[in-house]
Amino acid sequence: MKNRTLAIIKPDAVRAGHSGKILDRIIQENFTILGLKQTWMSLEKAQGFYEVHMGKPFFEELTIFMSSGPCILLALEKESAIDAWREVIGATDPQKADAGTIREEFANNMGENAVHGSDSVENGAKEIEFFFSNSE
Ligand code: CMP
Repeated sequence: MKNRTLAIIKPDAVRAGHSGKILDRIIQENFTILGLKQTWMSLEKAQGFYEVHMGKPFFEELTIFMSSGPCILLALEKESAIDAWREVIGATDPQKADAGTIREEFANNMGENAVHGSDSVENGAKEIEFFFSNSE
């Protein structure tokens, strides 16, 4: 069944000039791009997006990093998009990411890990709604 995931090309990957290669990979993997835009998140927006991690030791570092520069937001659709995108990006910790995954290729560390993917169908829908209006 088709479902949707939010994908983010995070500030580290945008800064390093990896956006084109990551977008190309998204197209090669046959995701349908329903929405795409660049944004520079405020700290408050990043705190809202990662609200579920509030109170965790990495929350401050994560939200400061996510608001440190432009990132690219994508709403992606595909058969089992949640699982498919998570497979393409690899493990959160790039040291544990499989060969050929985006994080294995482009991520610096657990915090600056190049890309984001939603972790469930429900969160995919919520996260897309957090950043995109229907007309986008
Ligand atoms: P992401 O998939 O965007 O979802 C939550 C983010 O929190 C995760 O990617 C990492 O960037 C970050 N994260 C998770 N665990 C840690 C950690 N132990 N230390 C630093 N950052 C983390």
